[in-house]
Order: sequence, then structure tokens, then C-alpha cells
Amino acid sequence: MERFTITGPTRLEGSVTVAGAKNAALPALAATLLAEQPVVLENLPQVRDIRTMVRLLQHLGVEACEDRAGLELQPALRPVENVAPYDLVKTMRASVLVLGPSVARWGRARVSLPGGCAIGVRPIDQHLAGLEALGAELRIEHGYVTARAKRLRGARFRFSLPTVTGTENLLMAACLADGVTRLSNCAREPEIADLATLLAAMGATIEGAGTETITIEGSPTLGGARHAIPGDRIEAGTYLIGAAITGGDVAVHGARAQDLVALLEVLRESGVSIESSGGAIRARGIGDGEGEDGGALHCPDVTTAPHPGFPTDLQAQFMALATQSERPTTIHEAVFENRFQHAAELTRMGARIRIEGSRARVEGRSRLLGAHVMATDLRASAGLVLAALCAQGETVVDRIYHLDRGYEQMESKLQHLGARVERTA
Ligand code: UD1
Repeated sequence: MERFTITGPTRLEGSVTVAGAKNAALPALAATLLAEQPVVLENLPQVRDIRTMVRLLQHLGVEACEDRAGLELQPALRPVENVAPYDLVKTMRASVLVLGPSVARWGRARVSLPGGCAIGVRPIDQHLAGLEALGAELRIEHGYVTARAKRLRGARFRFSLPTVTGTENLLMAACLADGVTRLSNCAREPEIADLATLLAAMGATIEGAGTETITIEGSPTLGGARHAIPGDRIEAGTYLIGAAITGGDVAVHGARAQDLVALLEVLRESGVSIESSGGAIRARGIGDGEGEDGGALHCPDVTTAPHPGFPTDLQAQFMALATQSERPTTIHEAVFENRFQHAAELTRMGARIRIEGSRARVEGRSRLLGAHVMATDLRASAGLVLAALCAQGETVVDRIYHLDRGYEQMESKLQHLGARVERTA
């Protein structure tokens, strides 16, 4: 098993370019199941979740081959045995994204239920209720959900809570349904709007993606397209917090400031200087003589929320930052249950954090010391890496296969910014 050895403290300085967004690339890959001609996706991040999704698509009959600028996905011309097996689904919950497009395209899909994961139960009831509303017959047996429909039909469906992959699943399915579908209480993450851009290039008629209500006029077939995946806002946010926690100065290229409004606001309130211009977002931490309130980090309380709120995918990284705040910070994790596993590991490095249900109180002003810590999930790992950058001495972050699910070449990007990070087996 691979690990990072990080020697701190370090001051991150320089510029970094983010990879394509994993969470935009996953639904874009699933959408290729709907097409009758090849779809070429550019700027796919080189991360493990993408390799898993491509393997799953190949399993479903899609041919994938590298083209000069991207990955060409050639859809199967006849229905294949449409089974998304447990072995693939268990490593990546987003595998459920193949359910909607498969049943819409082939009239039948069988996908393993994702089951629990490190960050809570995470049901898929909304995906299933929505597909039922579109006329699919669902059966759950032997740990699999089977969906059947001769042809899905347009319908109105209201999500009982905003779900990102749930919205994407239904958006894709509705593109091949007979008639008009109106989805309300949709998630509004930028990755949903990006998926709609790809689907529109394939010939779909969609209005309102990125807002609470999405209207889709179904069509009998969709064609091919070429689409570039936008930059990863969560990766960008991670490096910006990295600048803040190390008192550094980092310019992040490739992500849009308007997709990171909640984080940028919190960093500014904390006293970090933020500028965005010329396609880059620059964060200058305190200690760089640039603190906006005369030199001390003061993190505000934060509650995670669906977009445009503070992203749950940056909560662990922010918790690492809050250990350096002059005042105590309360972090309320309101999207997922049980997403505080990094707190115990941060405590082993000297942080003082008390968890009460979905709230964490981070005392701040902690002198972190290097320790041997264990990554538990993708973003928790990123939080530990950031803490290690400002800790005194050597930190070993074990099980970085979690990080490799979603961060492309993190160690070389950090090294380029001046960090002392090594990957070892
Ligand atoms: C997506 C992101 C993930 C991010 C999360 C929240 C992808 C591939 N992953 O995950 O990185 O952390 O959004 O921003 O884009 N829920 C239900 N029933 C459902 C579906 C969801 O109760 O049918 C609940 C979940 O348990 C959770 C909340 O809704 O409490 C939000 O989850 P959701 O938006 O679905 O997360 P994902 O799409 O899995």
C-alpha cells in the first residue's frame, strides 16, 4: 500500500493547474451510453475513479480508445448484458450513474446497489423514485437493482432533497424518454450544467440545468459529440486552502472563481487575501504579510450545503485550516452523516476537536506535530495532507489510494509548490 511522507512545515508558493473535474467527468462518461455515435471527452483527469468508470463502460459494451486530444468512446450498437457488477460498484458509488442511461437506451439495466461507505449510508432512493416516475419497473434482489422499461416516458418528478448524481441520472434518462420531463428541487452543482452542455451537443433539448428546475424534451436518439471537461473546483479549493494553511502564496489555474464563491468568501473572512484575474485564483495566506486583518487567521463557522453553499467536499480541508485559527470554529456537516473521520487523525497530530453529532468544534491555535495517520476517504485524505504541510516534522499519510481516486499527481503538484512530499510503497 502506498503512502505519502511529508516533512513540514512548508510554505506553498507558485502556481498550479488543476485537472479536469472528476465529478464532471464521471457523468460525462456515463452519458456516452446514450449516444449512437462516438463521443470524445477531452481533459479527463488521470485518476482512479475515471479508470474505474471506463472499465465499467467497457463492461457494458462501450469501446474506449485514446484519440489525440482525448478519449473516444464508441457506444455498443446492440444491447449488451447490462450488468454493473458489485466488484466495480463497491469501489465507486458514482457507478450508479450508469443506471439511468442504460435503462433509457437499452430498456434494461442491472446495477449493484452501492451499499454503505466510509461517509455514511448514502441511499439512492431518489434515483430509483425518479426512474419509476419515468415509467421504469424496478426490482431489488440479491443486492442488485434491475430497471426495465420499453421506453421511458416524460414525467414530472420532484426530488425530496437535492442529490447531485440523482439529478444527473434522471437528466440523462429523460433525454431518451418519450415526451417532456420536468425535474424540480434539483441539485445545482456546476457539474450538472456541464453534463447538460454535453447532452445538448449530443442533440438533447434541456432547459434550466444548474437551477432547481430542469426541463428536458426527450428525443428518440442522441448522436456523438466532442466535449472538454472543465477544471476541478474541489482540487482548486484544496490548493487554495493549502496556501492559507501554510501562510503561502498560490495561484490556481483552470478553475472558475464563480464555482467557488462560498469557499472564497470563507477564506476572505478568515483573513486570507484572494484575487481572481486572468483565469487564475490567487490565495495569499497570513504569514506572507498579507493578512487582511493585520496578521491573524480567524476562521468563521461553516455549515456545508448543496451548491452554491460551502461544499462538503472541502470540509475536511477546511477543518485542517481551522486548527490554525486564532478562535474556535464550529463546522456543521449538513450534507453527509459520519463525515468527520479525519477529526480523529487530526487529533493525533495535536489538533483539539470535539465532535457532537453533525457538529465539530475545532479549538484552533494548535501546534501540529508530524504523526503516522491513516486516510479514510478521498477528501479526508486531502485534509490530512494539508495538516501535514503545516505540521512540525514528518507525517506519514497511509492508504493514499483514497487520494488517488480524485487527485491527479498530487505529490508532484505539491513538490512544484515547494512541499517536501514523497510517495513510497
Ligand atoms: C456527489 C459528489 C460527491 C459530493 C456529493 C455532495 C459525484 C460523483 N460525487 O455525490 O463528491 O460529496 O455529491 O456534494 O458527483 N441522498 C439520499 N437519497 C438519494 C441520494 C442522495 O438520501 O437517493 C442523500 C445522501 O445520503 C446525502 C445527500 O443526499 O446525504 C447528498 O448526496 P448526493 O448529492 O446524492 O451525493 P452524490 O451524488 O453521491
